[in-house]
Amino acid sequence: MHNAPAAPPAAEDHLVLEQLGKSFGTANVIPSLSLAVRKGEMVAFLGPSGCGKTTTLRMIAGLITPSRGRITIGGRDITHVPSHDRDMGLVFQSYALFPHMTVLRNVAFGLEMRKLSRSEVRARALRALEMVQLAHLADRKPRDLSGGQQQRVALARALVIEPSILLLDEPLSNLDAKLRDEMRVQIRALQQASGITAVFVTHDQVEALSMCDRIVVMKDGHIEQFGTPTEIYERPASPFVSGFVGRTNRLSGIADRHGVITIGDQQIRAASAMTGPVEVMMRPHRMRLLAAGADRPSPDDGQNSLRGVLERQTFIGDLVQYHVRVGAAEVVIEEATRRDQGGPAPGTPVDMTWQASDTFVFPASAS
Ligand SMILES: Nc1ncnc2c1ncn2[C@@H]1O[C@H](COP(=O)(O)OP(=O)(O)OP(=O)(O)O)[C@@H](O)[C@H]1O
Ligand SMILES: [Mg+2]
Repeated sequence: MHNAPAAPPAAEDHLVLEQLGKSFGTANVIPSLSLAVRKGEMVAFLGPSGCGKTTTLRMIAGLITPSRGRITIGGRDITHVPSHDRDMGLVFQSYALFPHMTVLRNVAFGLEMRKLSRSEVRARALRALEMVQLAHLADRKPRDLSGGQQQRVALARALVIEPSILLLDEPLSNLDAKLRDEMRVQIRALQQASGITAVFVTHDQVEALSMCDRIVVMKDGHIEQFGTPTEIYERPASPFVSGFVGRTNRLSGIADRHGVITIGDQQIRAASAMTGPVEVMMRPHRMRLLAAGADRPSPDDGQNSLRGVLERQTFIGDLVQYHVRVGAAEVVIEEATRRDQGGPAPGTPVDMTWQASDTFVFPASAS
C-alpha cells in the first residue's frame, strides 16, 4: 500500500499573549494585544517609534507589569512570575556590559547566580563566547572592544543561560551598516541552530523582512498585521502596512460593483469587491513604463495601464526610477537599469502598466 508522506507536524505555540494591555496613568499605550509565537520561530515586532514595541517586549520579559491580560509559555501562565524566573535571555540596544569585568566574567555572571561549579561556569561561558566567535577576547574589558564585539558579548551573555526564549530590542541599531548586516546573519544562524524562540524588536523593515519567520506590524499599540515577510509585503492588510513595509504608490479612485476603479478620467481593474471611494496602491517595482508607441495592454488580459506625464527620471545605480504625474498624484516606477539606458524626456506623456493582481485596494477612509 502506498503511504502518503505525513504532513509535518504544526509547530506548537510557545509564547502566547492574551489580551495583553498596558496603561501608564491615563495613557492606554497597549489597549489589548493577542499573539501566539511558535516554538523555534523568530518573530519581529515592527513599527514606528512609540507604537509600543519595547513596552510589549518588556512585559514579556517581566520588566513591566501588564495592566491587563495574560502571558503564557508552553501553556504555563507566567504573567506574575518574576523576571529572573522566566527563563528568557535579553539583549538590548545598549549592551549594558559590566565595564570592570572581563568579557568572560560578563558572560559567566548569569551562571554564577546559579549553583554550578566554577569549572562548569567557565566552560559554558567559553562555549557561549565561541558561538559568537569571541573566545579569543575572553580576557579583554568591554571598553577595548568594538561596538559589534560588545553586542556579541551581550548576545553570548543572553544565550549562556540556555533560555527557552530570546528577546532582542533593537540590538543592532548602534552598529554601522556593514556590521549590522553581518550581525543579522549571525543572530539568525545562532537562533536557527539553537532552535530558540525569539522576539526581535526593530523599526527597520529590512531587518524584519530578512531575518524573521513572521512579522508583527504594530501601530498605536495594536497589531495591524501578523504574517510571514511575503504575506506582509505582497498582501498588506492595510494602507499603513503597505506604506510602512516597502515603498508604495497611492492613488485615489472610485470603485464600482464590477471591480472597475476610475482614477480621474481613466480606469483600471482590481480584484476587489469594494465600492465607492478607494485608495489603490501599487509597488514601484511591479510597474513598468511602456515603450513609446507600444499598444496599451488590454484589461481583459489582467493588465492595468495608466497614462501620465514623466516628470523626472532618477538613476540610482542598479535601479532607475521614473516619477510620473497622474492627475494630482505622483507615481514612481522602478526598473532595473539597462546598459543602453535612455528613456523618454521629462514632460513627455508616458504609459505605465502593471498586473491588475498587483493592485491593492483599500477603503479611502482607512489610513
Ligand atoms: N514609563 C512610561 N510612562 C509613560 N509613558 C510611557 C512609559 N514608557 C513608554 N511610554 C509611552 O508608551 C508609548 C510606547 O513606547 P515604547 O517604548 O513601547 O515604543 P517603541 O515602539 O519601543 O518606540 P521606539 O521605536 O522609539 O523604541 C510611547 O508613547 C511612550 O512615550
Ligand atoms: Mg523601543
